[in-house]
Amino acid sequence: MSDMTASQVDPDELKRYAFSVWSFKQGEMVSLMIHIGDRLGLYQAMNGAGPLSAAELADRTGLKERWLLEWLRGQAAARLVNFLDGDRFELTPVGAAVLAEEQTSPAFAAGAFSGATPPATVDRLVDAFKTGIGVSYQDLGPNAAHRTERMLGPWTKRELLPNILPALDGVVHKLTEGATAADVGCGGGVALFTMAQAFPKSTFHGFDPSQHAIDRCQQKADELGLTNVKLHVAGGEALPVEPTYDFLITFDCIHDMTHPVQVIAAIRRAMKDDGTWLIKDIRSAADFKQNMRNPLLAMFYGFSVSACMSSALSEPGGAGLGTLGFNPEVAQRMVAEAGFGRFQEHDFQDPSNLYYEVRP
Ligand SMILES: C[S@@+](CC[C@H](N)C(=O)[O-])C[C@H]1O[C@@H](n2cnc3c(N)ncnc32)[C@H](O)[C@@H]1O
Repeated sequence: MSDMTASQVDPDELKRYAFSVWSFKQGEMVSLMIHIGDRLGLYQAMNGAGPLSAAELADRTGLKERWLLEWLRGQAAARLVNFLDGDRFELTPVGAAVLAEEQTSPAFAAGAFSGATPPATVDRLVDAFKTGIGVSYQDLGPNAAHRTERMLGPWTKRELLPNILPALDGVVHKLTEGATAADVGCGGGVALFTMAQAFPKSTFHGFDPSQHAIDRCQQKADELGLTNVKLHVAGGEALPVEPTYDFLITFDCIHDMTHPVQVIAAIRRAMKDDGTWLIKDIRSAADFKQNMRNPLLAMFYGFSVSACMSSALSEPGGAGLGTLGFNPEVAQRMVAEAGFGRFQEHDFQDPSNLYYEVRP
């Protein structure tokens, strides 16, 4: 314990440190405001509208002016919208690219702000530091799949068909002709349904141990009237033991698994000898010092403790890789140990993820 009292520390350093701590609190509050703005369509309403007063935004949205004024002033204070004379506020084209244009902008981020960690989960996370046992995605509740989908889905929806699948050797041809594919750890099924709609001659199996995630997928399959999607409340450990799939994907989930080695071995067994496995996992390095160059690294550790590592330790003996744990070095080693011969890294300019094309 330090024997320095608060009055003895360098006052400037104290101020800087306290400011840095409070800026995380500010981030929490601004995150909530971004979520509210996203949910109410406020960024879309401001996109391309030029400077707007709260009254004008109220006219456009049917929402209450007083509430909008407070929200707009907060957004201006956070420098997310410009403040102009006459109490008017403007979302710039750059702001719109990050906060409004979900369908078209690779920089869209507002979906990632959907929903804070519920108090009951926080209690379980505090306990996990004592017991070692974390919270599975199923136990995070029905909202977890929805939140993941809002954060990860926009990129997948935009990039999968035009950029990612065509970069893989022969995969688009097989899916077009009619293949059997699996999305392991499919969550809410963004990739699953994007592919199922694009390749009607192929059949797509979605596997996830979370009943909530599969219920969400089932609802979408019914809404879309798709007959080429089969859903399984099961982890990757339960894949068929005979060679079944021409193509498998695991998107942002190997690092969440309690038993990734078993799942990777199961993928090898379930894949046909000329099959392809596409892994998407967090862009990180094995070396913590190297990762420290990432200015958003603390956020990734927050994701890890609250979701990824927690899920990966949700059973006794869990591997606990966590958000940054399945980096290219670990991925290459683990897939080689499972008997895969080919491993090719792809960088699709996804700011958070790398992609690995793996073949027997
Ligand atoms: C971060 S989410 C990713 C969901 C989806 N792939 C996406 O990109 O939106 C991780 C998912 O992995 C699933 N998961 C955890 N353990 C698993 C296992 N052993 N086998 C398959 N999926 C698993 C969780 O239930 C959760 O839905």
